[in-house]
Amino acid sequence: MKTVNSIEALRAAVKAQRMAGKRIGFVPTMGNLHAGHITLVTEGLRQADFMVSSVFVNPTQFGPNEDFDNYPRTLDADAAKLEAAGCHLLFAPPVDEMYPGDQDTWAKVVVTEITDRHCGAARPGHFDGVSTVVTKLFNIVKPDVALFGKKDFQQLAVIRRMTTALCFDIEVVGVDTVREANGLAMSSRNGYLSADEKNRGAKLYRCLCAAKEAIQQGERDYMAVSQRANQELTGAGFEPEYFSVCRADTLEPATATDSDLVILAAARMGKARLIDNIDFQL
Ligand code: PAJ
Repeated sequence: MKTVNSIEALRAAVKAQRMAGKRIGFVPTMGNLHAGHITLVTEGLRQADFMVSSVFVNPTQFGPNEDFDNYPRTLDADAAKLEAAGCHLLFAPPVDEMYPGDQDTWAKVVVTEITDRHCGAARPGHFDGVSTVVTKLFNIVKPDVALFGKKDFQQLAVIRRMTTALCFDIEVVGVDTVREANGLAMSSRNGYLSADEKNRGAKLYRCLCAAKEAIQQGERDYMAVSQRANQELTGAGFEPEYFSVCRADTLEPATATDSDLVILAAARMGKARLIDNIDFQL
């Protein structure tokens, strides 16, 4: 696997593969890679001939009081994991390669509506940072297919909306969430949890499964479903942020007649903000 740090070198390396008729796959990440990230690369290798991954901790998607400075940076270990997974090219640019010059010379991509709720409400500007950096990465790599985790369900919905709305000729693929044995969704931010918090953190997924079960058994009072879950989470030591039964397409609150559903949840546990979800059809 080759590692490049500049846009120019990345473009040259990908162009050579495209000219050779290869289908290009792309997995953007912020690094500190775990089995969840690697499954995106593995799935990508099934769908493309040449896999590119990026490791870039994107400053514009962090709020002023968030963990940009402390976000775990483990580039050497990440490169070794990507290479072992069969990734062909790693793009690891410094911040000023992606955001050169003064801020007043930059541009930003804003996806409306679907970014208003859930994580978008809790983290103002976060999805603008995500859609902006993913647009830049899409324009740099020009992949045929890009893979994103369903773990970040709202992010995947935002990227799908952006890809359609801005006419990117890129197939966006969503990949199932990889979990620890106890059900906790893998996340780079799980490193902020103690062993005890990791055990208790698994409760978030158990609450999602229980809510799905209740709805599949006929429960249609979605407010009650969410109140019950919030109480349980509080009892288990979480500070719940949201737990919402939504339409899987628009992420708006679901009504009793909707059949394509996702339950989205976010809750704080110790120093970490955990997000998770479960999607299903009635
Ligand atoms: P990051 O949090 O590093 O995640 C990179 C990709 O890995 C995302 O598509 C995310 O949904 C996926 N992922 C994370 N945990 C996963 C898990 N347990 N199972 C399956 N997939 C998982 O998401 C970002 O970075 C950034 O916002 C980014 C899109 C790179 C833009 O900066």
